[in-house]
Amino acid sequence: MIGIIGGTGPQGRGLAYRLARAGVDVLIGSRDPERGMAAAEEVRRLVGDDVSVQGAGNADLPGRADMLLVTVPYEGLASTLRPLAEQVGDMIVMSAVNKLSFAGGPQALPVEAGSSAEEVARLLPAARVTTAFNNVSATHLRNAEHVFDEDVLVCGDDDDAVKRTVEVASRVDGLRGVSCGPLRLAFTIEAMTAVVISVNATHGVTAGLRITGL
Ligand SMILES: NC(=O)c1ccc[n+]([C@@H]2O[C@H](COP(=O)([O-])OP(=O)(O)OC[C@H]3O[C@@H](n4cnc5c(N)ncnc54)[C@H](OP(=O)(O)O)[C@@H]3O)[C@@H](O)[C@H]2O)c1
Repeated sequence: MIGIIGGTGPQGRGLAYRLARAGVDVLIGSRDPERGMAAAEEVRRLVGDDVSVQGAGNADLPGRADMLLVTVPYEGLASTLRPLAEQVGDMIVMSAVNKLSFAGGPQALPVEAGSSAEEVARLLPAARVTTAFNNVSATHLRNAEHVFDEDVLVCGDDDDAVKRTVEVASRVDGLRGVSCGPLRLAFTIEAMTAVVISVNATHGVTAGLRITGL
């Protein structure tokens, strides 16, 4: 089961929807368990009652999920993750977080830790942190008609965590997880999201990233 921390926003709901459609059990987390449960009900309505999608408070996720996925805004990372550090322990924690600004067009903002994913690793010191779904649009995730044809760039310092994140990403129809290397590449991956958003706005398309030659 994948626990999505801050899973009630567009990105968390979109990923919950796509993962549930792929048969993955999902637990949608929120600061308010009621909101998590309402989001889970929405996803079940879209996918069907035979899927396992539940809602809970963020603090319940480490005890119930096998892997975690973080989809809170960068500004919410410290208050959300610091209190969970002990419970999370050495779990695999996938980060979809990008610190972007949209003033004057999309651009990546600097992060003191190096990247949002490295900030997640700083706040959860024993966790095995990877990047996942950073460049995948919430609008596309939530649009049932959208057919994906793109890669999910996965970096991390723990080989098993990277492998398992690649497997999770590849479960979603049309997405392919690609292992890229160590966590220090996370900022480059996160920053590419600004480029993808800009390409889509410039050309009026629903493009995604694809690594060729693999
Ligand atoms: N939107 C996209 O297309 C997209 C694409 C790729 C990556 N991402 C990344 O995915 C993450 C989520 O994006 P989103 O658009 O879904 O974000 P969002 O709607 O702004 O936030 C997601 C959820 O996080 C919780 N949250 C909001 N502010 C918080 C705070 N200050 N402290 C703690 N929790 C807070 C809220 O859940 P509760 O109120 O229920 O707790 C909210 O529903 C971001 O880091 C973003 O960079 C987004």
